[in-house]
This record gives sequence, C-alpha cells and structure tokens, in this order.
Amino acid sequence: MLHYKELGLVNSRELFKDAMKGQYAIPAFNFNNLEQMQAIISACVETKSPVILQVSKGARQYANQTLLQFLAQGAVAYAKELGHEIPIVLHLDHGDTFETCKSCIETGFSSVMIDGSHFPYDENVRITREVVEYAHKHDVTVEGELGVLAGIEDEVSAEHSTYTKPEEVEDFVKKTGVDSLAISIGTSHGAFKFKVKPGELPPPLRFDILEECEKRIPGFPIVLHGASSVPQDIVAEINKYGGNLENAAGVSEDQLRRAAQMAVCKINIDSDGRLAMTAAVRKVLTEKPAEFDPRKYLGPARDKLRELYKHKIINVLGSAGKA
Ligand code: G3H
Ligand code: 13P
Ligand code: ZN
Repeated sequence: MLHYKELGLVNSRELFKDAMKGQYAIPAFNFNNLEQMQAIISACVETKSPVILQVSKGARQYANQTLLQFLAQGAVAYAKELGHEIPIVLHLDHGDTFETCKSCIETGFSSVMIDGSHFPYDENVRITREVVEYAHKHDVTVEGELGVLAGIEDEVSAEHSTYTKPEEVEDFVKKTGVDSLAISIGTSHGAFKFKVKPGELPPPLRFDILEECEKRIPGFPIVLHGASSVPQDIVAEINKYGGNLENAAGVSEDQLRRAAQMAVCKINIDSDGRLAMTAAVRKVLTEKPAEFDPRKYLGPARDKLRELYKHKIINVLGSAGKA
C-alpha cells in the first residue's frame, strides 16, 4: 500500500470546502503523458491555483500505473521547483469497478470517482457505498454520479443523456457517504456536444436542475463533467492545418463561470486540451514538413496547453490565487 500522503498529494475535501465558500471551482484536468502534466502544473503554479490531476482508465492503460504514480510524485516536486507549492489531488476519473478504485487507492491516488450512473439507482448506491467504505478508511475522497451524460465516458458510451433527478440527490448522498456528486445538466463528453447549425447557439445548461440539487443538498460539492468549451479559434486552426472537425461545439465559458459561482466545485476539462495540442502539432508539421524531432512539435503543444489552462483558471473557474 502506497498512501498518497507519502507522495505529497492531498485529497479533495479541504479544496472543495474553500471553493464552495469562495464561489469558484477547482480545475480537474486529464493527463496521459509528461507534456500534459508539465503544462497543467506550470499553469497552476503560475496562476497559484489548486489542481486535480485526473486519470481515466484509458490513461492508466496508456501510461502505465507505475509511471503515473511517479509522474504524480514528480508533479509535487516540479511545482515546488517552479517556486510555489500548490495542493495537488490525484484523482481516478470514471472508475468503473470497486477493484479499479481499490487498486488506485493502493497506489497513491488521493481521490476516486466511482461512476455507477449507468446502473439502476439501487445498484449505483450499492457500488458507490462499497467504494466509499474502503476509500474513507484511507482518507481518500470519493465522487459519485447521478444522471447520465451523453458521449463517451471511458468505455461506457451513452447515446442520450438523462438529466439528474434532483429528488434523488439527498437520498444518494446520505446512503452512500460520497464527498462530491457529478450531475447531468446538459453537458456531454467530447468535442461534439451539441448538434447546432452554423450561426445557432447551443442549448443552455439546465441551471434549474442545478439550483434544485443545491436546495436539496446545501453546501455539498457538485461536479461538472463534459465541461470543455471547444474554442472555435482552435477548431479553425486544426481545420486550417489539415484537420477535419466539422460542427465541433462545446459549453459556453459564461455558463461555466456561472456554475463555478454556484455549488459546482470541480470542473472537468479534457477535450479542450486535446484540441489545443492537436492544433499546435498540426501547425508545426504543416509549416515545417521536414521537422522530425518530437520536442519541436510537442514543445509548442505543451506551450499552447499551458496557455489554455491559465485562461480557464483565471477567466472561467476563478481558482487563480487560491493556492
Ligand atoms: O471522460 C472522459 C475523459 O475525457 C477521458 O477520456 O477515457 O479517452 O481517456 P479517455
Ligand atoms: P470534456 O470531454 O468536455 O473535456 O469532459 C471531460 C470529462 O468530463 C472528463 O471526465
Ligand atoms: Zn467525465
């Protein structure tokens, strides 16, 4: 058993308490490799923001669990070296079984999500409760989910979303003992969130559902998945340099800002980072077809990613200066 405290990581409990009080959200950025981790940590140190480093099942398969553990430990040391200590959470994104969550807890994760949202309610309660009982023994925090987001949630793919039923949240939180709850209010995973015709605005998020949930579990940290905004300038850059991302659309940053001022304490962003890296890599490889040193395209990708994260932290989540 390697406890996260040995790696210098923290769980999410205090971060969410402060975020709730201060009306901002903690960034939860996914990472799969060194460059993404460097971009996340340097952006958060430069803006003095706490951060949740988020790892999906796919990321664990891609990067290797042992290397991830050392990368997270390295992230703590790297932040110090950059000149400012920030609280860093290592979080399992969309954990699908008790065993996966347990294995992460045993190898240094300080927070896990058990995503039972696609199960019938009682089974979701059962599996979430099981993970909470184990996690809390090790002071690891747990995120549950009620309501289904459309799009790909790791290997769970849902065609249509099901909004969270506010009348279930209080019972779920009470029965499971979770520390935070992801809800479905109209966001979805990936870069194609809404089918909109050119010139049309995507439908607004269901703030009425968020408000109703807040009323039923006052002061309880709520999580938004699928919160990429799919910046249209980045999409245009990808398409300009040979890409083909037609009709990519995301959640407006105004709406995310509003959610962050409410009970939403954690905002998950992955796709925007993927887009930023892809745009930078495409630009280099198109403009310099003779380039073959990975540092020459991954370096600019990392720079663009860092700038994107800084923008999110300062202008969308409001977590700058909170660490
Ligand atoms: O919610 C899904 C995240 O964007 C992670 O995606 O499973 O492809 O790593 P992934
Ligand atoms: P996006 O695909 O909108 O970035 O959502 C990421 C996410 O929710 C990870 O769990
Ligand atoms: Zn998600």
